[in-house]
Amino acid sequence: MTFQPPKGTDDLMAPQSQAWREVLSLWDDWSGRYGFPLVMTPVLESTELFRRGVGDTTEVVTKQMYTFEDRGGRSVTLRPEGTAGVVRAYLNSGHQGAWKGAYSGPFFRYERPQGGRRRQFWQVGVEYLDVEGPAADAEVVELGYRYLESAGVPNLELLINSLGDSECRPGYVAVLRDYLRGKEAELGEDSIGLIDVNPLRVLDSKPDQPVLVDAPRMVDNLCDACSRHFEAVKTLVEGLGVPFTEDHGLVRGLDYYTRTTFEYVGRQLDTAQNAVGGGGRYDGLAETLGGRPTPGVGFALGIDRIVLSVGELDRPYLEAYLVSETGPEDALQVASRLRRDGVNVDFDSEGRSVKAQFRAARRIDVAVTLVWKGEGEPIDVQTKGGRQDVPLEEVSDWFKERT
Ligand code: HAM
Repeated sequence: MTFQPPKGTDDLMAPQSQAWREVLSLWDDWSGRYGFPLVMTPVLESTELFRRGVGDTTEVVTKQMYTFEDRGGRSVTLRPEGTAGVVRAYLNSGHQGAWKGAYSGPFFRYERPQGGRRRQFWQVGVEYLDVEGPAADAEVVELGYRYLESAGVPNLELLINSLGDSECRPGYVAVLRDYLRGKEAELGEDSIGLIDVNPLRVLDSKPDQPVLVDAPRMVDNLCDACSRHFEAVKTLVEGLGVPFTEDHGLVRGLDYYTRTTFEYVGRQLDTAQNAVGGGGRYDGLAETLGGRPTPGVGFALGIDRIVLSVGELDRPYLEAYLVSETGPEDALQVASRLRRDGVNVDFDSEGRSVKAQFRAARRIDVAVTLVWKGEGEPIDVQTKGGRQDVPLEEVSDWFKERT
């Protein structure tokens, strides 16, 4: 075949896709438990939404968006992140008051592909809107942590910081800018270019970290309200028994953040791509998008990275394989009955020999092989532990007792 998937995108199928299925269904479970119903927004949005929402000077907007003109001459973009679209949807819905939404789907960023960094990747996330108090931050932070913990991400760490708000950040940015100007001789070219447009992003520069150790810190410049909020969030998260580290250099790559920001890190992934998720508060975003003031907090987690860090499950996608000694038409009827009774089973519909059917069962590595011998005969149930005869109508109970 001469066609390959586009660079930075992947085909995914069983058995590798099994780990994805489990991790995604675990997400539905955890997000549901915390009271987040599903929200679905388009994969395609107007380009302006991200320019305004995510920020004109961010790397995501300047370098990574898949932007094109549709046939009607409108500039549209494949969503590089989910928050702007969800906030847009909330504002359009006319809903008043606290609102929760959870999402799961593909996102697109034109990045240099490598392990854990794809051009099409999968995020799950939540947005909790029109909520101001620190309990909302703590609830959201905890959900992400509990989910990642139960997915089995090894060496999971949570980093927390506060970025202040429109009261205190402008003053801090001015102080930081002055400091960075004094260090221009030691800073890299990329950082120098950011001093005027977005000095906070300089704090994110990996190569310039040695120059930045003494840089003024946002936490030392928070106004009283932001400082109280930050202290309260930390106390609440601690009270939930979720361990975290304060990281005063954590600025995040998107412009909409205010106050709380956080990141989940899987320490055994290689350093460049070890963020399995991140989020924070974005109290000004709704207004930036032309809506009424609507504070909010949320996060997104990268499923590609989560699967990488928990490792492939390679668990068979089938529990049982049905071998029919009387042809595929009978197997079709028997499988239908078993499936309606809740058994996860497949069979060969091509009428291959019994030997070939057993070979197929072995290839899939099923735990149970069911042999259909004919009408009126019990099913011959074979496992690694041995074999036994079970009447067809009792097979589903046999499976239930087994688990
Ligand atoms: P983000 O930090 O840009 O935040 O992305 C969240 C997560 O998505 C990352 O930590 C990473 O695991 C995954 N991710 C991002 N880019 C890629 C990529 N190219 N390949 C694989 N995985 C990737 C946001 O997107 C915010 N919308 C999160 C948020 C929600 N903040 C508030 N609410």
